[in-house]
Amino acid sequence: VIPENSDIVIFGASGDLTYRKLIPALYHLYVNQMLPSDFSILGVSRTAHSDEEYREKVRASLLKTEKTDPEKLAEFCQHVGYQAINTLDCDDYGKLQQRLQEKAAQSDTPRNSLFYLATPPSLYDVIPASLAAHGLNDESTGWKRLIIEKPFGYDLETAQELDKKLHQHFKESQIFRIDHYLGKETVQNLLVFRFANGMFEPLWNRNFIDYVEITAAEFLGVEERGGYYDNAGAVRDMLQNHLLQVLAMVAMEPPSAINGNAMRDEVAKVLNSLQPLSDEDLRQNLVLGQYTASELRGKELPGYREEPGVSEESRTETYVGLKAFINNWRWNGVPFYIRTGKRLPTRVTEVVIHFKKTPHPVFGKDAPDNKLVLRIQPDEGILMNFALKRPGAGFKTQEVAMDFRYDELVDSNVLTAYERLLLDAMGGDSTLFARSDAVEACWRYVQPILSFNQDPHALFGYACGTWGPKEADELLARDNRAWRFPCSNLTNTEY
Ligand code: BG6
Repeated sequence: VIPENSDIVIFGASGDLTYRKLIPALYHLYVNQMLPSDFSILGVSRTAHSDEEYREKVRASLLKTEKTDPEKLAEFCQHVGYQAINTLDCDDYGKLQQRLQEKAAQSDTPRNSLFYLATPPSLYDVIPASLAAHGLNDESTGWKRLIIEKPFGYDLETAQELDKKLHQHFKESQIFRIDHYLGKETVQNLLVFRFANGMFEPLWNRNFIDYVEITAAEFLGVEERGGYYDNAGAVRDMLQNHLLQVLAMVAMEPPSAINGNAMRDEVAKVLNSLQPLSDEDLRQNLVLGQYTASELRGKELPGYREEPGVSEESRTETYVGLKAFINNWRWNGVPFYIRTGKRLPTRVTEVVIHFKKTPHPVFGKDAPDNKLVLRIQPDEGILMNFALKRPGAGFKTQEVAMDFRYDELVDSNVLTAYERLLLDAMGGDSTLFARSDAVEACWRYVQPILSFNQDPHALFGYACGTWGPKEADELLARDNRAWRFPCSNLTNTEY
């Protein structure tokens, strides 16, 4: 449901996220007529700019990255304004309040405000408290919502503290914790695939599934983000949020409805069922790695410790591989092998469901197993592998594939993750946002790893362009398994 009006206030207006993701998302929504007819975008940050100067920056950034229509671009920019405030000074928010009041005075319906916190996490409690001090949390004059970027907390304790502080001023229904993986079409499709098809769900359990792999590989290193990343690492950056949310989509029970409460009850339930990592798990079932300087296709790539903003002695992991279990009726005993890393051979995110072998191998032990590959990106689609008879004499088997590709959908109007999530927040739909109990369950699960990565034996090096430390291969080899080599159908050229 598109609301009648929305004032979208972006804190961190000059930041990378704003120019790279938020402004393009809002522009596309505007062009596709998906924004409220009466909307405004107000950039907020410390630097002084006039409305016109900020508009010019927005225009220039869109021209650089997007295909734009000059007329639409000019119209869109008319909705953009700017307010400089010192976000640490509560009194300064009076200027923002005044800007919003001016809008309200011109409008004869209650005004809605969406506050997007695209700022350093240290401001996640300061901004909401200052907004509240100026009555900007008061919903008697239209809804007031907060979108908060990750990282939501630094560990379990800080996440709980942050929640407590937010709840002093905003109700849970006003807080939208963004995890952009949930905005991805293919992640949402995990739900539709599972719960709209009678044919898969009966098999979706420990009786038929042997193991599950979840891979999120990136070719790029930490680029310009060394300063942030060195305090985060792959566990905080990817595992605690994106990958555990994907795991929840794969493993959750069917919700009674697709709405914020029903869905997120099931998500929290499955995340709370993750088997806590014991000391033995940390030594046996976890691999942490860091990429080292290496030559790749004739190019020298720096090691993680040589990246700008990274300490020369850093022990931050850029790779994590993990064997996880879910202690519930459906999944007991089924390993979920999860891995993510920077500077791997290519960019690919996929979930692989490996079905159990037939009870008796009539065609020999080498007959291929059934695999279902849910390709989240970049080659969005679903691949099913199964065995057929190889034509010719005898009964030899051969692996074949049924392959569905999203780009073959004729009428596909795929929204980017940020477009979808901005739209949902404006429509008041929190289904695809992380609820506090789920965020805490994820922190609780990864917490033992956060302390363990200080152990001097815990970190293995790997060369850029490889699939991580060899110890990660051994993790599966010990169970007579191997990671799927996710290169069939890869269309990007990084590999
Ligand atoms: C972000 C992480 O949340 O997700 C980045 O901070 C990572 O380090 C990115 O590169 C990956 O997102 P995507 O959508 O490119 O898979």
